[in-house]
Amino acid sequence: MSDEDHTQYEAKGHSTTGSGAPAQSDRNSLTIGPDGPIVLHDVHFLEQMAHFNREKVPERQPHAKGAGAFGTFETTEDVSRYTKAALFQKGTRTEMLARFSTVAGEMGSPDTWRDVRGFSLKFYTSDGNYDLVGNNTPIFFVRDPMKFPHFIRSQKRLPDSGLRDNHMQWDFWTNNPESAHQVTYLMGVRGLPRTWRHMNGYGSHTYMWVNADGERFWVKYHFHTQQGMEFFTNQEAAEMAGADADFHRRDLFDAIARGEHPSWTLSVQVMPYEEAKTYRINPFDLTKTWPHQDYPLIEVGRMTLDRNPDNFFAQIEQAAFSPGNTVPGIGLSPDKMLLGRAFAYNDAQRNRIGTNFHQLPVNQPKVPVNTYMFDGHMAYLHSGNAPVYVPNSGDRPWADDEGPVNDGWEADGAMVRSAYTLRPDDDDFSQPGILVRDVFDDDQRQKLVDQVAGSLISGVREPVLGRALDYWKSIDADIGRRIEEKVRQGDAPEPAEGMGEG
Ligand code: HEM
Repeated sequence: MSDEDHTQYEAKGHSTTGSGAPAQSDRNSLTIGPDGPIVLHDVHFLEQMAHFNREKVPERQPHAKGAGAFGTFETTEDVSRYTKAALFQKGTRTEMLARFSTVAGEMGSPDTWRDVRGFSLKFYTSDGNYDLVGNNTPIFFVRDPMKFPHFIRSQKRLPDSGLRDNHMQWDFWTNNPESAHQVTYLMGVRGLPRTWRHMNGYGSHTYMWVNADGERFWVKYHFHTQQGMEFFTNQEAAEMAGADADFHRRDLFDAIARGEHPSWTLSVQVMPYEEAKTYRINPFDLTKTWPHQDYPLIEVGRMTLDRNPDNFFAQIEQAAFSPGNTVPGIGLSPDKMLLGRAFAYNDAQRNRIGTNFHQLPVNQPKVPVNTYMFDGHMAYLHSGNAPVYVPNSGDRPWADDEGPVNDGWEADGAMVRSAYTLRPDDDDFSQPGILVRDVFDDDQRQKLVDQVAGSLISGVREPVLGRALDYWKSIDADIGRRIEEKVRQGDAPEPAEGMGEG
């Protein structure tokens, strides 16, 4: 069923009440005489007022500010030796939805504040919906989901003043040195994409692919923008935040309306299943990338966005993405963050949208559904009089797999509360150091120094300040020294708003 089928208004005649009877007036309430009081039985007026009071739903916590568009993913290469997933078979075209967002800002916050950007994709495949809920960076700040709510709160607002606070952000980051790689990315030029069309997207986590013979592989997803990467300077971003807080939302909508359809090429890095057990870094650690010389990119296909939403609330605000929504041929991995996320999203959506959020047109799969999730608020699709329990003696099918699962992995050991076991090359500072020394050029290194120093002199106090300087010296001694010099002189330029700014 397409979303358009759910458009509900008559272009002719006049408006109706919610129950479909002609409404009497949308301009004048019913009163005793022209100047008298409003009467309680003006049902249409009361219905309008009461519904207005309920027309917002809670914003996403986090990733509240965003927008998106519909499009198509086409698999252009043969990757069937790695996955049997229907959408990744050569020549398959799959309808999809993308939503881009900032992480920490609220629903009305400026699009151009420095922040990581969300890169959420929903593929309406012939085996059910597959969601890939990633970011514009290939790594993340923490590697245990227990830390996630603390991380998000530290990036949001102070409990007393309700203000963003650099001290709080750096307090969290420096107390969690595994954040160094992601913070370096964020403070570098890629922390301020010019538009959503001009940024890359990453699945970030390691996922599993399973082929038709049951062979398992570990994969990382990379979506490379075909528009080219473009960034804002701090000054451009700050000016834009004031001039047009919705700049990224507007840019995507207008580009698609003009017929300029942005596209991204999907490539994957593939690690044979067994190699993960002995690879020199933990391949499931979300704060690490896999070096391309070990695992080169393998092209898969292309996604193109070509259709704007007809209704922002129905199709974007109510869109529900979850890393737990996988399809045959694709699985999760031992990444603890990913396992935590597999629970968090649908639970957030039951609260944010409602128990039956999966029945809304934008979230409905394009294949028949036979779920035993039953009744609840706003149940719309139903199973008639079919049995509501399993096993049943009627003719309603149910699932009954037993034994090893085809997208599983081995695990053993006593129950513990512990960090991951360290591999020979695991540490928090090597990869951000490589990013600074080998990926950034001189100009980008200078911008990084300016951005970090600017952020640190805007409200970061001891002992966090000293810890932050040590953190940067651990990433790279020279960059750390240059940041310290600027901070001690107090002459750093103003940083961009958002993360890294109070
Ligand atoms: C344990 C870690 C995490 C937890 C518990 C978590 C939880 C959440 C929750 C509750 C939402 C709001 C969902 C909604 O209301 O619809 C959300 C949104 C989002 N998260 Fe996470 N998150 C985690 C880590 C991550 C990571 C590592 C990434 C990227 C690699 C990510 C990317 C996103 C994106 C893109 C959205 C916006 C989804 C949309 O467009 O609707 N999150 N997260």
